[in-house]
Amino acid sequence: MIVYLNGGFIPFEKAFISPDDRGFMLGDGVYEVIRWDTGKFFKMDEHIERFERSLKALRIDFPGTAAIPSVAKRLVAENGLGEKHAKFYIQVTRGAAARCHTFPPEGTVPTVYACAHEFRPRMKETETGIAAITVPDIRWSRCDIKAVTLLPNILAQQRAVEAGAGEAIFVRDGFVTEGSQSNVFAAFGGTVRTAPDSNYILPGITRDTVMDLCGTLGVPLEPRAFSEEEVRKADELFIVGTTTEVTPVVTLDGRPVGRGTPGPIARKLLTALRAVMA
Ligand code: PDD
Repeated sequence: MIVYLNGGFIPFEKAFISPDDRGFMLGDGVYEVIRWDTGKFFKMDEHIERFERSLKALRIDFPGTAAIPSVAKRLVAENGLGEKHAKFYIQVTRGAAARCHTFPPEGTVPTVYACAHEFRPRMKETETGIAAITVPDIRWSRCDIKAVTLLPNILAQQRAVEAGAGEAIFVRDGFVTEGSQSNVFAAFGGTVRTAPDSNYILPGITRDTVMDLCGTLGVPLEPRAFSEEEVRKADELFIVGTTTEVTPVVTLDGRPVGRGTPGPIARKLLTALRAVMA
């Protein structure tokens, strides 16, 4: 596998970073995950804009975002992924410097790493739906920043897997925020709801697309959070994201959601999403 590290395309086996790297030491970095679907990247510009917002929020001075499309294309080509589905990953950290709680000395150069892996769309999960569990949202108050610091998400996803579920859904102050690696939508009597933009959720690129698709398909949509009590009465529940597309949640904490089978709104949105991704 060929990867990109600090300006060069090199074999993965030769890609090393310093133990002093602030991503390794402190989780001091940001990332993006962008899909390649047999010929094009999905919403590359939107991902780059969000990446720039994350960098700015953390005051990481990385001037190289304009090169992301060409780096991504070259990684897809070098790794023989052109005719496949792939995930392009890019991470920028504040660079390598002796560990300290302040910013590193002036002139410390950010570390940039990127790679591309084959990705197989989750056909079974999107078809039959998944189980999910609810977990307390113990994350910080800047979940809108796509930071590499994902500890609460890891703990939540691990709990889900240990409970035989596919996703953990965060609940903060009694309201559903998002999933450990997805945004969450619910349908109530034909109207779809999702938590509005705030510092407590990641503004998902797939979420934005699905919201637009609701408009196109004439599905009534309300960007209004739903409570833990409400979600248990939802007719449909589904998670959306780069890797999850639109995946129906058919049981929540072991109890069926609606009829316990994928609902018509999730199916319609999944079909429409796949059409715009193709
Ligand atoms: N995660 N919310 C969280 C917490 C996420 O980690 C993700 C995606 C999303 C969905 O965002 P998008 O539609 O832009 O992918 C929402 C990526 C895929 C990851 O961490 O691997």
